[in-house]
Amino acid sequence: PPPGPMGIDPLRSVAEEMKFMTGKIRQLIGSGHPMLDTVSKYYTQSEGKYIRPMLVLLMSQATSMLPTQSRSWSRGREEVDQSITPASVLADSNPTSPLTAPSVENGQTSDTSVLPSQRRLAEITELIHTASLLHDDVIDTSTSRRGNPSANIAFGNKMAVLAGDFLLGRASVALARLRDPEVTELLATVIANLVEGEFMQLKNTVLDERHPVWSEDAITYYLQKTYLKSASLISKSCRAAALLGDHSVDVVEAAYQYGKNLGLAFQLVDDMLDYTVSGQELGKPAGADLELGLATAPLLFAWKNNRELGTLVGRKFCEDGDVQMAREMVVRSDGIEQTRALAQDYVDNAARAISGFPDSEAKFGLIDMCSKVMERRK
Ligand code: FPP
Ligand code: MG
Ligand code: MG
Repeated sequence: PPPGPMGIDPLRSVAEEMKFMTGKIRQLIGSGHPMLDTVSKYYTQSEGKYIRPMLVLLMSQATSMLPTQSRSWSRGREEVDQSITPASVLADSNPTSPLTAPSVENGQTSDTSVLPSQRRLAEITELIHTASLLHDDVIDTSTSRRGNPSANIAFGNKMAVLAGDFLLGRASVALARLRDPEVTELLATVIANLVEGEFMQLKNTVLDERHPVWSEDAITYYLQKTYLKSASLISKSCRAAALLGDHSVDVVEAAYQYGKNLGLAFQLVDDMLDYTVSGQELGKPAGADLELGLATAPLLFAWKNNRELGTLVGRKFCEDGDVQMAREMVVRSDGIEQTRALAQDYVDNAARAISGFPDSEAKFGLIDMCSKVMERRK
């Protein structure tokens, strides 16, 4: 990607680390069952953006110069059994993932400012994210992702769901191997949060479907859902990165606030792009949210000044012409602009949260991610 406004490419400081990401992830999800292996690895073939692992690595680097403080419990890192061998058959075919490793892993000369545990965390975040995509594409009856047929289309719903479950299982194994109860709790909470967010989206409990009236509660509900569905993973993994680095509560909280605000902005922009960018550019169908009956931020803001939209919201844009009409009303309103402005507020908060970190390439990378989120087209 081209360097951002400050001439910094956020990827640059972690580029070396990222090179091995796909290989490591594929190693973690290997299965002796050839079909399970294929379905589980399907979304690792079209290389994703690796935004979550990149943020974990950048956060790990950006905090590496800060003072550490030991946490109260014994973390038993030293006791970890590293003798687990790769299994080629089904029985107990757990991933190989040594927790502590020398600074050369699989021939990769590692940046010493990133701890092996933080590197493992980066991989875990991508596993959880990919699992959620496999399930999401079943729920959304998607047809394409990253420019290819989605897994539910390529392999069917049953295998897509099971592959997602398998990824969560392997993510849990990798998490357990960190031998860090607080980090385990955080990432386990993320998995629960993803489901809670998805449920909030499935069944809106603040809108009376027969008489939907606009109120601020609709926005509050949407933002809570957005936190659970999108920002929870990013924020709690940034928090976990700081915890693994043994940093003070202030640093841990700053990392969390950065991730939370960036994550909220990320999803707001996602919901905006669904209105503003073609499916060709997105690599997945555009305008999908209205088709799914979802009222996201641009529509909620448009609804505030166009109360007629309520009728369409109530019936989830299901009648002929509803989607088209809602889309036109949103595009003509200031809903898209308001969504962009709110996303901008969030990225400003994200940058502010880490402004006290010592200057480093990684810190500028994190700040540049804020502009990248606002500029992205897919
Ligand atoms: C993409 O949203 C989906 C998510 C961010 C999370 C979906 C969560 C679940 C399906 C719950 C199950 C969770 C796990 C951990 C297995 P989107 O549909 O708005 O985005 P898209 O346009 O990329 O499909
Ligand atoms: Mg979807
Ligand atoms: Mg979805």
